[in-house]
Amino acid sequence: MATRRKLKKQVYFVLGGLIILIVGICFAVKFYKNYQYQQTYEYKLQEHGYNDTEVARILKEFNDEEHLNYLLDNTKDSKIVTLLDEEYYLSKNFYEYISYLNENPDMDLDEIVRNINIHLDSDFYEETFNANTSLDTSMLVNKYYLLDSSYAPDDLVTISQTYSWGEAGSQKVREVAYSAFLDMWNAANEEGYYLMVSSSYRSYAEQEEVYNNYKNSSGERYADSIAARPGSSEHQTGLTLDIFSRTNTNRETFKDSAEAKWLAENSYKFGFILRYPEDKVDITGYTYEAWHFRYVGEEIATYIYEHDITFEEYYAYFLED
Ligand code: DAL
Ligand code: ZN
Repeated sequence: MATRRKLKKQVYFVLGGLIILIVGICFAVKFYKNYQYQQTYEYKLQEHGYNDTEVARILKEFNDEEHLNYLLDNTKDSKIVTLLDEEYYLSKNFYEYISYLNENPDMDLDEIVRNINIHLDSDFYEETFNANTSLDTSMLVNKYYLLDSSYAPDDLVTISQTYSWGEAGSQKVREVAYSAFLDMWNAANEEGYYLMVSSSYRSYAEQEEVYNNYKNSSGERYADSIAARPGSSEHQTGLTLDIFSRTNTNRETFKDSAEAKWLAENSYKFGFILRYPEDKVDITGYTYEAWHFRYVGEEIATYIYEHDITFEEYYAYFLED
């Protein structure tokens, strides 16, 4: 009898011990899991002040320690998360956006993204790069991306005097742009308009002359607002035409003509863009040129037209490495 009771006691003892062990293990597992969770960026970002939606967005964007630690090392800022959803946000520019945002806390985020993407945080001609001519008809040439003085296209063709002013043979343009121009000319002509080219390909030396004439007569500031410094003119690409009408070549009034309106609304269908629009002066650095059309091909021209952006913005987002 005594032995049975002793045995029973031992069983209870073992069972009790087992229960304590199991409960202990459960607690340990829970504690360990909790500890592990606290090591995750999800937990750390939440502790840093980001809400669940923001944390999810951050983790979708970044899976590298560098960016995540950067966010944890700096004050929580919901604007940074909003920035990630900007239409033209580029991950390669992340840190530049942040420092530019810190310098310009009141600037809209789309402007932050745009300005950094196209280098507008630097003054024109301050930070310059070589234009990527290998992009052919989609090369960008502006006040940041310059052509070498030796660059000249090798497929220039002469524009017929039917469509251009100047001495015979003096107006030239790249073949691909000429063919698109002729299609555009015919379409405009069918609607009763007669387009005329006043300026086309200009060599580096010719552009130097154009720019220096303005600079010498009216000063650098004015010259920079209407003419490109040598190496930075799209006319050197052979893909650009200054287009007026047969009856109006006036830089002041052409913008109000039916031809200018037709060109602004229809040129994209033929691969041309109005390169320096009235509402983009701060971006392009040039006053409104209702006559300056750049050939970029139909696909790019259509996107630019439909999204109402400049070639600078398109280039930074879709074409630049
Ligand atoms: N007028 C334009 C900006 C040029 O000189 O290329
Ligand atoms: Zn021009």
